[in-house]
Amino acid sequence: MRRIDQIVILTGAGISAESGLGTFRDEGGLWAQHKIEDVATPEAFLRNPDLVHRFYNARRAQAAKAQPNAAHKAIARLQATFSGTVVLVTQNVDGLHEKAGSPAIHMHGELSCALCAACEHRWDAPMTMAVGDTCPACASSTARPDIVWFGEMPYHMEEIVEAVQTCDLFAAIGTSGQVYPAAGFVEEARMAGAATVELNLRDSDMSHAFEEHITGPASDTVPRWVDQILNGQ
Ligand code: APR
Repeated sequence: MRRIDQIVILTGAGISAESGLGTFRDEGGLWAQHKIEDVATPEAFLRNPDLVHRFYNARRAQAAKAQPNAAHKAIARLQATFSGTVVLVTQNVDGLHEKAGSPAIHMHGELSCALCAACEHRWDAPMTMAVGDTCPACASSTARPDIVWFGEMPYHMEEIVEAVQTCDLFAAIGTSGQVYPAAGFVEEARMAGAATVELNLRDSDMSHAFEEHITGPASDTVPRWVDQILNGQ
């Protein structure tokens, strides 16, 4: 059996579903209730910043009330006790990995953070952001949620690609594989010789690219998968 020294875990909205946060593309998900082009693009923010702020204010309030579930906690346990390295990359903006005690790389930004569109200064977002909020660094009225919108470049890509290309095991948990570049990580990991596993409630658009599939709710499958890794050390 291949020795595992470095694990990269990619998480998506499915890991937070059982914490009460809706996913994007499941039935009745966020993108069934809101049009992406109205709330999640730079153009939407230029056109109607009030609507965009209200959308993210609602999500910030929901995320603040949510608690990590057994899947978030199991990943934190893996990070704390695995003998090698565990790099956690998340597309989620909800902060539940941090609440579970996990350091995560946030490739799509964070609801808890505000960003100045003019000078790129970042600060802790207030619970409610509004049109006209000023940047504490440059004082211009260009505060926005620190969320990577469609058409923008995800954060920390160099660091993430380096980790994916040097890992021995790549796991994707609760992500539909519909949004790039995250959806392409599995292929990169495979090309680099890593083992690949998908943990999802059902098949995703990228299922064919994974060698192993563990099907079921994350709160059940992730703790069992973590035990299996820790027992195999
Ligand atoms: N356990 C495991 N997987 C689950 C669960 C669960 N309890 N509930 C749902 N899932 C799976 C679904 O089967 C689906 O494959 O989670 C996935 C959620 O997919 P999406 O809603 O598309 O979320 P995600 O993949 O994180 O979206 C990627 O799209 O809109 C953007 O920026 C947003 O970061 C987001 C990105």
